[in-house]
Amino acid sequence: MAFIDESVGRYLHDLVPERDPVLAEIEAAARKERIPIVGPVVGRFLEQWARAIGARRVFEMGSAVGYSTIWWARAVGPEGRVYYTDGSASNADRAAAYLHAAGLADRVELLTGNALDLLADTEGEFDIVFNDVDKHQYPAVYACAADRVRVGGLFVSDNALWSGRVADPARRDADTDGVRELNRLLYQDPRYVTSLSPMRDGVLVGLRVR
Ligand SMILES: C[S@@+](CC[C@H](N)C(=O)[O-])C[C@H]1O[C@@H](n2cnc3c(N)ncnc32)[C@H](O)[C@@H]1O
Repeated sequence: MAFIDESVGRYLHDLVPERDPVLAEIEAAARKERIPIVGPVVGRFLEQWARAIGARRVFEMGSAVGYSTIWWARAVGPEGRVYYTDGSASNADRAAAYLHAAGLADRVELLTGNALDLLADTEGEFDIVFNDVDKHQYPAVYACAADRVRVGGLFVSDNALWSGRVADPARRDADTDGVRELNRLLYQDPRYVTSLSPMRDGVLVGLRVR
C-alpha cells in the first residue's frame, strides 16, 4: 500500500527503533501471511498520542492478532485497560498468546464478535477509540463511537487515505466511500479538532474538544 514515495516510506520505517521480540514476531508473521497490521511507523504514532493524553482506557475496533493492541497496551501502563475486539475467534486466540508472551495480558480484555455491538455492550467513556474494521463500516463506526470518547480524548482511524483512493472522486465502491465519509464526518464534527496524517495509509486523528 505504498502510495507515498517508496523511499520515503522506507526511510520512515527505518527510523523506528528495533521492536521487542513479540512485535518483531508479529511483523514477520504479518509479512508472511499477509495479515494487515498498522506496522511500526503507525504503531509508534499511536503510542505517542496515547501517552500524550495520558490515556488509560482504549477501545480498539478491529484488532486482528493484537499488533496494534500491544502498542496501546504499552502506552496505557499497568493500571490501564485496552479492549481488543475482532470478529475472528482464531485471531483472538492468537492475540491472547502474543499478549501473554509480551507480559500484557492482564491489561487487555479480549472480546470476540462485531466490534460495533461490543462497543455498545461496554459501558462508559474512553480516552481513545481506535477504528480499524472493514472500511465500508466506517460511517457506522462514527455513528456509534464518536460520542463515546471523553472530552480531551481521541477518535483515531486507520487507512484514512485508503491507498490514495479517497482522493479520486471517480472511485465509488463501498470501502472507499466508507473511508471518505468518515473523514468528512469527523472533520465536520464541531466536537472534534481533526487532522489526517498521511503516514503509511493515512491516520485520521480527532481530538474531542467539546
Ligand atoms: C486491518 S485488521 C486490524 C489490524 C490491527 N488493528 C493491527 O494493526 O494489528 C482488521 C480486522 O478487523 C476485523 N474486523 C473487521 N470488521 C469487523 C467488525 N465489524 N467487528 C469486529 N472485527 C472486525 C477483521 O477480522 C480483521 O482482523
